[in-house]
This record gives sequence, C-alpha cells and structure tokens, in this order.
Amino acid sequence: MVQPSRILIKGGKVVNEDCSVFSDVYIENGKIADVGLNLQVSAGVRVIDATGKLVIPGGIDTHTHMELQFMGTKAVDDFHIGTKAALAGGTTMILDFVIPQKGKSLLEAYDRWRKTADPKVCCDYSLHVAVTWWGEQVKKEMETLAKEKGVNSFKMFMAYKDVFMLSDSELHAAFTQCKDIGAVAQVHAENGDLIAEGAKKMLSLGITGPEGHELCRPEEVEAEATQRAITIAHTVNCPLYVVHVMSKSAAKVVSSARRDGRVVFGEPIAAGLGTDGTHYWHKEWAHAAGFVMGPPLRPDPSTPDYLMDLLANDDLSVTGTDNCTFSVCQKALGKDDFTKIPNGVNGVEDRMSVIWEKGVHSGKMDENRFVAVTSSTAAKIFNLYPQKGRIAKNSDADVVIWDPKSTRIISAKTHHQAVDYNIFEGMKCHGVPAVTISRGIVVYEHGKLQVSPGHGRFIPREPMSEFVYKRIKQRDQVGRPTAVIRDPYKGSIVSL
Ligand code: URP
Ligand code: ZN
Ligand code: ZN
Ligand code: ZN
Repeated sequence: MVQPSRILIKGGKVVNEDCSVFSDVYIENGKIADVGLNLQVSAGVRVIDATGKLVIPGGIDTHTHMELQFMGTKAVDDFHIGTKAALAGGTTMILDFVIPQKGKSLLEAYDRWRKTADPKVCCDYSLHVAVTWWGEQVKKEMETLAKEKGVNSFKMFMAYKDVFMLSDSELHAAFTQCKDIGAVAQVHAENGDLIAEGAKKMLSLGITGPEGHELCRPEEVEAEATQRAITIAHTVNCPLYVVHVMSKSAAKVVSSARRDGRVVFGEPIAAGLGTDGTHYWHKEWAHAAGFVMGPPLRPDPSTPDYLMDLLANDDLSVTGTDNCTFSVCQKALGKDDFTKIPNGVNGVEDRMSVIWEKGVHSGKMDENRFVAVTSSTAAKIFNLYPQKGRIAKNSDADVVIWDPKSTRIISAKTHHQAVDYNIFEGMKCHGVPAVTISRGIVVYEHGKLQVSPGHGRFIPREPMSEFVYKRIKQRDQVGRPTAVIRDPYKGSIVSL
C-alpha cells in the first residue's frame, strides 16, 4: 500500500528542547512544511488526531553496533531488524560505528559499512568511524572522511588491549587531528592495561563467571581513563565526547570537567540508566551473561538514578544505547571464561520509554529535557540540527506522537529485536510511541510496523559543528600561549 506523503497532525502538544506549544504539524514530501494553530490543508491529506499526546522530534540513538563482528561472533540485530526496532520505539535515526581492524584502511571499512547498511536501513543513519591504530594513512583518511564522506566524529578506544586500544601518544595524535579537521573526538574510556591485569587476577582466583567481568574493571578503571582522556583533549583544545558513561565515578569526572569549563560531553546509555550490575551476580549463568558489556553496569544499585540526575542537570548531555546484541548461545562462548563473553546489550528499541519512565515519570526531568537528551542535543553535537532534532518548518519529518499516559511492559516476547532476551525484561514503562513518522511516512502505528529495508538514508554530517566548535575556535584565538619578551641574557655561561 502506498503511504500518503501529506500528513496533518492535529491537536497535539509540540515539544521541542526549549518549549512546548499546542500546535498542528503539517508534513509534506518528507519535510515539516508548517507548524501552527488550526492549519488549513487541502483534501487528500491524512489527518492524525494527537489530542492528549505530545508531538516530539524522533529519537536519535547516538551509539549502535548493528551486525558488528566482535569477539569471534556477529551481533544479531542487523541494520534491517535493528532500525525497525528503533522505529517501533520512537527512534528515527541511529549513529552506528565503522570499526576498522588495526592496520586496515578507514576508508575501505567505511565503504564496506555503507554497502552493508544502505540497502537495509529502515530509518536514517549516520556513521562515526573508530581510529584503532595510528599512522600517516589514518591521519589522511580521517581528513578525507571529514571532507568528503560526511563523518565528523571519531571514536578512540582506551580499552580492548591489542585489539583496538590506543596509547596516550596515539590518543594525543588522534585528538589533534580531530581538532584540525573540526571533528568530535569520542572515547571509550577504560584503562585497557588494568583490565587485562584484573582479568588475569580474577581467573587465577577461580572467578570465571560474569561477575568477574565487573570485578576486573571496577569504577576507578573507568574514571581514571575518563580523566586521562579529558586531560589529553584539553592539551590540544579538542572537544571530547565520552561514550557509554557507566559509573558514578566516571560521571563525576565528566561533570567536574564541565564545571571547570572543558568542552566535554558525557553519554549515558539506556542500559546504565535503566538497570544495574547486580545482575552479574545472578545464580543463572545465562541471565548474568546477558548483561555483560564494556564498561560494565555497576553493582551499586543507586547508579542509574545518579546518572539520570546528572543527565537531567546537563552534567551529562545525550543518550545512546550501545545496542550490540548477542543471543544467549553467542554469550555462551564465554561459559567457562568471562573474558570470552561477547560484550554488548540491547537498548535501541527501549531507550525512549526507559528514559521517559526513569527520567520524566519519576520527576527528574521535564518533557523538554527529554527531547534534548533523546534527540536535539545529539543533533547539535553531531551537526544535524535543525534538520534533525526539532519540530520546525523545513526540518526533516522524523516525528513521533508520544503517548505519555500509556504504559507497556518490556519483554523479549514482544520486542522487535533479533536478540532472544531483553535486559529490561518486565519493566513497566509509562510513555510509549503511538505513531512514528520517518522521512514523512507513517512507519509505526497501532503497534504495527510498516516499513521496508532501504527506506532510511545515510545522512552526511559536516565538520565544525557550531554547538561544539564556537568555543573551541574562540579559545584558539585568545588562549594561545605567548613567549615573554626579555632582553637577551648577557651574563656568563658555565662551560661543560
Ligand atoms: O560492550 C560493548 N560496549 N560492546 C560494543 C563495543 C563498544 O565498546 O562500544
Ligand atoms: Zn565502547
Ligand atoms: Zn537479574
Ligand atoms: Zn559501543
């Protein structure tokens, strides 16, 4: 059935990150054509009644790994199933990661990822690229990616020793290049050397189960790396984005750096906001292993609330999911050794509802902050705003009609993802997407998806996002160190 491309959403409350207003929204040819009260439209336009509901910008998930080949196996949510699940949850754009192997071309990896994703995606997407080694070729390819391929963010790993990890001097070089090309430097902040030592220790103590995964990399391992990354980025005046902030300790480091004026952004993920690391101690191995991801969820049960408070107060900035799903039989690769459990959890479908429940329903944040942390701020940081992340004339018609009063119970039995369990199993969430509109087409309503692979598009992103770089550029102008003008030293010099 051909879907109408002209839609009038009537009677809802339009919620942007800065204000809420009762307004109609008229969509035509994939764009928001008008926003205003009592809009008059011609015949043939589909009218959707949004009375009692919110009309919000579609969610942007800043962090996914669809079909990632990782730790000897491949994530089960591919770009088709994963992006369909995203739409069912009210997310209309994902940012996935190209992760080249050490020594391999970034450009070739990027091309491969585009070829994989382009025909499959059901929602719009964009790509971060990981820098897993350093050399002149990498430096040049980063520039090409930024200038010609629509990539303005690069992820560096401080963990996964011998696989993806960079040394401090390599981080320094990569951050310097990010700065020179106007990109955002992203870090996976965990001390990879300490993790390797900690893992050996736990195995030698006979701890082979999922609890060993957390015990070998406690909070301070994450906090130390976070502080180190912030220090390195500051030496080159490079904006820094810390992906998957999982602990109170690391979140405090990000928060205090922001208060010290650093241009740093912290990204908690749905898993860290919605659940905790006590599951690693669950008696049933498969249950415990399902939560294994890096950095780990933390056993301190007050962590999710704490991260949510920081998110509400802008100490942390945006949310992703790190959706990287492995079914139980894949997790079982590590049944006798936690270091072999493929790292990753679900989230792409449930992020919006989990954040509404734990953030808005709980009273920690309002609906505008919800839009900021699920969509608009990501669009600003990654230079997609206001094309994405805003309900306004000329913005892309990625729109969600959000029902704040409806509830649903999250379950693997009903989710749309390929993975065979759900870390949020049984969680009751207020706040559900009633209708998801992607690229001006209704793709989800009445609990049903109607979308085909290839409906989504790759969205290129220009470098030098103003939201990130305005302050950086000004600091370059005024903050350059200068030498002291002195008369030359005319005294004697010791002879050696
Ligand atoms: O456990 C995780 N996070 N898996 C995906 C890879 C990464 O580090 O983001
Ligand atoms: Zn990571
Ligand atoms: Zn449990
Ligand atoms: Zn990740």
